[in-house]
Amino acid sequence: MKKVVALILALIFVFSLAACGGTSGGSESESATEAKASTAESKTNDTTNGNNTSKDSKTLIVYFSWSNNTDKMANYIHDRIGGDMERIEPVDAYPEDYNETADKAKAERDNGARPKFKELQFNPEDYDTIFIGYPIWWYELPMIMRTFLDTYDLSGKTIVPFNTHEGSGDGGTYDQIKSEEPNATVLEGLPIRGGDIENADSKNKVNEWLSGLGY
Ligand SMILES: Cc1cc2nc3c(=O)[nH]c(=O)nc-3n(C[C@H](O)[C@H](O)[C@H](O)COP(=O)(O)O)c2cc1C
Repeated sequence: MKKVVALILALIFVFSLAACGGTSGGSESESATEAKASTAESKTNDTTNGNNTSKDSKTLIVYFSWSNNTDKMANYIHDRIGGDMERIEPVDAYPEDYNETADKAKAERDNGARPKFKELQFNPEDYDTIFIGYPIWWYELPMIMRTFLDTYDLSGKTIVPFNTHEGSGDGGTYDQIKSEEPNATVLEGLPIRGGDIENADSKNKVNEWLSGLGY
């Protein structure tokens, strides 16, 4: 009799285990699979989005330009190498008048100002190589470029400087960039005279320089 009761109890136990296991185990693994699938999906999306910026376009061209000469130079570079490009825009725009801008820029330089720029769409930290362009202002970097260099730690990046000017060449600014970003590799830059920027020769110079850098 005991044996029969024990057998019945054992059978009930086995059936109830099977029933529980069948229901909860199945739904658990289903929801786990769903959860994994959705994580994988979102990870794929994240990676795709992240990599669209950092994988397809590991090069960023970022530049400041007041009267558009450096903008043209940046576009010559972009025509050749592609990648992402963004202009640094001051929060407090410079006047359209040359003398007023010259005075403002001189005061900024003399006061060691750090003029603010509008938030950039691209994060320079996401790129391996960053082309950095600007005009020479009062024999050196416009102070807004110092704000840029203060804002981003470009350690480990390759920086390629380029600039326009009206006689100062690079004005020693490539060395300034090197000292501001001591842990970056700063490649040989290219200065172009702003007044010549629309000459075919200037575009050729840009292309030759880029070829020399391996682009
Ligand atoms: C405020 C200011 C200061 C400048 N200082 C210099 C200078 O010290 N040396 C120089 O060669 N050119 C100087 N320039 C000329 C610009 O570097 C040149 O016109 C440049 O191509 C302008 O570039 P952008 O059109 O991209 O602003 C100055 C221009 C401005 C507006």
